[in-house]
Parts: sequence; C-alpha cells; structure tokens
Amino acid sequence: MAGQQLEILGIAGSLRRASYNRRLLREAARIAPEDMNITIFEGLGDIPPFNEDVEAEGYPESVQRLHRAIAQADGILVAVPEYNYGVTGVLKNAIDWASRPAGRSPLEGKPAAVMGASMGMGGSARAQLALRDSFVFTQTPVLPGPEVLVAGAHEQFDDNGHLLRGDTRDFVRSLLERFGVFVRRFAEEPVAAGVEPSR
Ligand code: FNR
Repeated sequence: MAGQQLEILGIAGSLRRASYNRRLLREAARIAPEDMNITIFEGLGDIPPFNEDVEAEGYPESVQRLHRAIAQADGILVAVPEYNYGVTGVLKNAIDWASRPAGRSPLEGKPAAVMGASMGMGGSARAQLALRDSFVFTQTPVLPGPEVLVAGAHEQFDDNGHLLRGDTRDFVRSLLERFGVFVRRFAEEPVAAGVEPSR
C-alpha cells in the first residue's frame, strides 16, 4: 500500500479479445475511487495447464509473474465469465497455480472481490459462487457484496466499452468503495500468513 493509494490487481477470466469481463474490469478501473489503482493482469493466456509434474520442475515464468502480481497487490478484483455454470478453464487454471505451494500461496489472506458479466440472465452468478468456493480453500477473504451480476452482457456496453446503464455503474462503484474499506481493514490486521489451511 504505497502511501494511501490502494493497488488492486484486476483479473479477467477470459482470453477473448472483446471479452465483456475485461470491459467490465476496464470500466471498474475508469470509475474507481481516487485512492484506488486497478491494474489488469494480461498474462492469463501464457499460463500452462496445471500439472504437478511441471510444478515439481519449477514454476514457469508465466506463473511466477502471476504470483508476483498477486503478492504485490493490496487486493485482487476478479471479473468472472461463466462457462457451463462454472468458471472458465483459464481462470480456474490460474487459481490452481496461484494456490500453490500449499501454505505459501499468494492468495492466502489476500483480500478479493468478484464481479462478472455473462450473456445469460444470471450475470455469471453461478460462476461467481463457484469462485467463492475455491477461495474458501485458498483462505482468500472475499468481499461479501454487493454482487455485481451483469446479465445479457452483449447489450450492456457501448462501442467504447462503457457500461450503458447508470445503475450498473453504481453497483460497480459501490463494490469498489466497499472493497477499498475491506482491503484497508486487512492491511491493518492481515490474516496470519503461513497458517496451513484445514483440508
Ligand atoms: C457460455 N456462455 C454462458 N453464459 C451464461 O450466462 N452461462 C453459462 O453457463 C454459459 N456457458 C457458456 C459456455 C461456453 C463454452 C461458452 C463459449 C459460452 C456465454 C458467455 O456468457 C459468453 O460467451 C460471454 O461473452 C463470456 O464472457 P467474455 O468472454 O465475454 O468475458
């Protein structure tokens, strides 16, 4: 936390160039409170499929970049697409890598917030819940709400990638404001690092 400025790492769980979730993250970065910088992680596509044999040989550079980015951030903001009522494979894969090594994962104790956009009516609600489940295992404290569920995502953004609806923007702004308070609380009383999660 450099000075009073919060450094937040944004992760969009889609590799698609025109991803609605990356648009949502960019929109969040644009309307974030003055004391919050959101930097979007762009290396998800470089991360190989998780394999314990590869891990045993050493963490690939792409994975090390992810680890460093999470470790250096005050908090992470994940924009979660929904594939078949779950999170996308690339996002789950990144979470699996970031969850290692057990007991020393950069996700442990790192404050997180989730939001998401999907083309269906649920606005990625199921995928967001699935991610929250994973964050129980990784001991990642997640902001309880508001839940930002951008449904019918293909009708929610203008040509510049900005959210069309003011009430949706207000939800995002409210999420970010609450997340700022949440992250600062964890900075004051961080979750004990190195505590082996119960499995
Ligand atoms: C989808 N989509 C989708 N939408 C949804 O609301 N619930 C779902 O379970 C699924 N399942 C699903 C599976 C697969 C394989 C694909 C390719 C798509 C549609 C999805 O919301 C849409 O592709 C979004 O555009 C994905 O997010 P990004 O890439 O725009 O961020």
